[in-house]
Amino acid sequence: MKPVEIAKGVYDVGVNDWNIRDFHGYSTYQGTSYNAFLIIDEKIALVDTVKKDFSDQLLANITKIVDPKKIDYVISNHTEMDHSGGLPRVMHRIGEDKPLYCSKMGAKNLARHFSQKWNYHAVGTGQELSLGARTLMFLETRMIHWPDSMFTYLKEDKILFASDGFGQHYAGHEKFDDQIGDEIMWHAKKYFANILLLYSPLILKLLDKVTELGLEIDMICPDHGIIWRKDPGKIISAYAKWANQESEKKAVIIYDTMWQSTEQMAEAIASGLYKEGVNVRPMHLRKCHRSDIMTEVIDARAVIMGSPTLNNGPFPTISDFLTYMKGLKPKNKIGAAFGSYGWSGEAVKLISNELEAMKFDLVDPGIKIQYVPDQEDLNACIEFGKKIGQAVNR
Ligand code: FEO
Repeated sequence: MKPVEIAKGVYDVGVNDWNIRDFHGYSTYQGTSYNAFLIIDEKIALVDTVKKDFSDQLLANITKIVDPKKIDYVISNHTEMDHSGGLPRVMHRIGEDKPLYCSKMGAKNLARHFSQKWNYHAVGTGQELSLGARTLMFLETRMIHWPDSMFTYLKEDKILFASDGFGQHYAGHEKFDDQIGDEIMWHAKKYFANILLLYSPLILKLLDKVTELGLEIDMICPDHGIIWRKDPGKIISAYAKWANQESEKKAVIIYDTMWQSTEQMAEAIASGLYKEGVNVRPMHLRKCHRSDIMTEVIDARAVIMGSPTLNNGPFPTISDFLTYMKGLKPKNKIGAAFGSYGWSGEAVKLISNELEAMKFDLVDPGIKIQYVPDQEDLNACIEFGKKIGQAVNR
């Protein structure tokens, strides 16, 4: 990826990671990018770095614009190593004594990661750094995505460098929202659903803080994916919707199956929901990645989970997904469980207990069918689906 001038004297010097397919457990079918930004003024600032393996590409990109030794300040918005891994190489190249701006927690966390006595300058919300004609302002954004996270705002250009906020795991030659269109929203939703959903209350507070500070935003530059320049309000509105956990007339049926009995039940339940006008998606846990399923869960009103009973419990894939979903704290959901069994049949009850522990509203104690469902059983599943559908419509 070549440097791109995104505004006068402001460059994206980041890199594409075209081939990453697993980002600590999140499926990245279209790779990702590690964006970093160079601001040329009387003083030169670098905002964030890249994953360690891409440090040379970052430095090569910077060199196309300026000798890296001329960088005066480095800003670290976030310690996670996809953004800080390149810091040791960068600091070594530009000068270990150059001021490194980060949050207070960032200074602690960077020290824990790299054991370097860099020239840390811890900053808090509202603090500013003059670059000459232009000014950077810092905004602490704890837990978006780590305790050290912060945003950096370039006041005169109204550009928000938002670190993980508003990002998407997407590698492409497109650099801006207007170059890719609505396709990017699915990637942004997936990112939110799998990385930020549990921090929804903090995101709502952050959106209020941005309003309170009166920040005008012409461009949002996340550290992953495309830059929002045509319509930054679109992704801000989407974040408000996702963080408020607003749902649609939609259900997701998440299941695993041994001999297709639970799968037959899933399809019958789906047809019952469909008869009630609910948009329904059955998703097989060994065919759909958990991060794709969470992307569907985020705006679904109902989450229905199906499992055969294996060794007196749910399938391991079901337990895996329940653990994953529980950690992400989805709210305002209707829940229900179903499954086929042979002789003991504990899975449905155990899944229901887990959904209840997540404060899902259980509309039915669950439905279980021994061995293979006959037509009467499938009719019962259709009725079960209709019952959930009616609850969705209420
Ligand atoms: Fe893209 Fe939390 O790092």
